[in-house]
Amino acid sequence: MKKVTTKSLLEMKAKGEKIAVLTAYDATFASLQDEAEIEVILVGDSAAMVICGESSTLTATMDQMVYHVRCVSGGVKRALLVADMPFMSFQISAEETLRNAGRFLAEAGAEAVKLEGGKPILDTVKRLVDVGIPVMGHLGLTPQSIHQFGGWGVRAREQGEADRLLEDALALEKAGVFSMVLEKIPAPLAGEVSRALKVPTIGIGSGADCDGQVLVNYDMLGLYEKFAMKFVRKYRLLGKEVTAAVREYIQDVKKGDFPSKDESYDIN
Ligand code: KIV
Repeated sequence: MKKVTTKSLLEMKAKGEKIAVLTAYDATFASLQDEAEIEVILVGDSAAMVICGESSTLTATMDQMVYHVRCVSGGVKRALLVADMPFMSFQISAEETLRNAGRFLAEAGAEAVKLEGGKPILDTVKRLVDVGIPVMGHLGLTPQSIHQFGGWGVRAREQGEADRLLEDALALEKAGVFSMVLEKIPAPLAGEVSRALKVPTIGIGSGADCDGQVLVNYDMLGLYEKFAMKFVRKYRLLGKEVTAAVREYIQDVKKGDFPSKDESYDIN
């Protein structure tokens, strides 16, 4: 088992080896994914949606995210563990940003943090990198700006926004990010950004030319059915399996078929 580090991801890009990333929010899924040799586990603020049932990621708090990162770190041995900085945890002041990012590493076992945004967060990124906290960027459809965008549509289809996104990506790389998520942007633009950068791009809904891909684990396992984005490939339909298993259990209990003698204890 070779531990994945930020350095390994740069080496993978240099060798043309694709990087596989999934989210996780608890130790059980994290350890199953780690066992399967996923390279990066991201504790996304998507926890607000898939774990807490909210309609956006905006309600995720630092305390919630620290809790999930701590749970996940209990299940990870090999993958690089990245913690998503929630809305308003890195915008208010430099001091608060450092304290929050530091909590993820010191209290929860994260090895890097992810921040959404471009030019406005460059100084923040530099500050974090300067104190030894690796940063993953996130451009395109950044869900923390969903109200600003007015919906979950594809970003940067028009030339002006595409040009700004490329500038932001180059500026983030210069500020020291070790990698960058590109969410829901046209595939040709994601390819252009990926070729322009030395650090790996991790796409979600941004086509095959990114250096790696990320999906929400609950989405790709068919456990979260509220949102159906066309970029989500469902590798299993575990949600349906869970409902079927629970129905079977209910019937067994009602019929008195569960527990059996073998599933019960005798006096000695
Ligand atoms: O919150 C999240 O899960 C994310 C990924 C989908 C990139 O930001």
